[in-house]
Amino acid sequence: MNREEALKLLQQYLRDEKMVKHCLAVEAIMMYLARRLGEDEDLWRLVGLLHDIDYDYVGRDMRKHGLEALNILKNRGLPSEVLEAIAGHNEHNGFKVVNEKALKLVHALRASDHASGLIIATALVMPNKKLAEVKLETLMKKFRSKDFARGVDRERIKEIELLGIKLDEFLELALEALKSIADKLAL
Ligand SMILES: [Fe+2]
Repeated sequence: MNREEALKLLQQYLRDEKMVKHCLAVEAIMMYLARRLGEDEDLWRLVGLLHDIDYDYVGRDMRKHGLEALNILKNRGLPSEVLEAIAGHNEHNGFKVVNEKALKLVHALRASDHASGLIIATALVMPNKKLAEVKLETLMKKFRSKDFARGVDRERIKEIELLGIKLDEFLELALEALKSIADKLAL
């Protein structure tokens, strides 16, 4: 499955434009991460792009989210670690990830998922609500401020350290990734 096919499929399953933007944001961070880690950029960005494909389909039921994606994405020529990582990124569905490549993707995906939330929430409290106004220093402050964007799980963001990347380096990379698609995010 190429990127264009993946985006088309995603748009069939996600009705909410906000969710599509969220997936584009996670895709961008995963691509930058793959580049940083010397991993397969096309593969990693596909994982980011498709990770929430079943979110609306399962009625946002966290016991099912990720599992239905396995059905949607099977027989489409995607490597098994892609499917495993997407199923495993939600820790509430009981899915166990065993493949080592998939485990690496899971940590990257969880970190990217929540980092995108933190960065976008931060952009939205800037004077002009623009990503361009967000600085790493502000992001680090928002990361430590527990009352800010409570839905963002800081522990998930810290999973990036399991891949040998420090938190500040990761947030900087993620911020650059989102700035690179600011027009698509309308931010
Ligand atoms: Fe997500």
